[in-house]
Amino acid sequence: MIVALNNKSNLGKTEFGLYQEKLNTINTNHTLILCPTTLNISLFSSNKLFLGSQNVSKTDDGAYTGEVSAKQLKSYGVSYCIVGHSERRQYQKESLDDISEKVKKLLENDIIPILCIGETKEERLSNNYKEVLLKEINSVITTLQQEEKDKIIVAYEPIWSIGTGLIPTNEEIEEVNQLIKELLPNNKILYGGSANENNIEQLNNVKGIDGYLLGGLSLKPDNLNIFLNKIN
Ligand code: 13P
Repeated sequence: MIVALNNKSNLGKTEFGLYQEKLNTINTNHTLILCPTTLNISLFSSNKLFLGSQNVSKTDDGAYTGEVSAKQLKSYGVSYCIVGHSERRQYQKESLDDISEKVKKLLENDIIPILCIGETKEERLSNNYKEVLLKEINSVITTLQQEEKDKIIVAYEPIWSIGTGLIPTNEEIEEVNQLIKELLPNNKILYGGSANENNIEQLNNVKGIDGYLLGGLSLKPDNLNIFLNKIN
């Protein structure tokens, strides 16, 4: 299984050092991808984990104050990058076009995009969540070649589940996995949203999951270790 750790905007320099020491003591056969804040990328040190970023610029190197390009990320050993996270879609007003451009820059620089998709509670209740999810995928893949499409990892993160302690039913996740597979039959799919060491037994029974994208749990190495030991 793939387990991607999204630290979000957490951990300063000293805290990150201590955190990383703990993380490096974890023994697991699962593939761990650590996505720290951009600043902490340069402090990454591990021969067990892969390095990911939480964001990338949609532009190349140049006069784009405050942006970090895919080429720069690559030069720091980044091999994965979260893109289209609902927090960035919501708070940074990232558009479908922005996300599509970011995915292209990542692929050009040989970084695997972890494309997040997810619906709000309202969209689920009004039953148009499938359209929302399909649009979030289609807007990215329509201009890509098949071999580029194949590289993308899709993370299904229902917005109403992120940080709330609520997780969808197994059937709800399976339905979305099926939807993703219809467009991207060869791709890995992660589930994200309040996944933890207490609900992993339930999540273990979901068909079509290739791993998890963890927020809160990523910051608690001891609980993360329990989670990893319980994954099928
Ligand atoms: P939580 O695991 O804290 O719900 O966050 C999920 C997430 O947003 C990971 O990207």
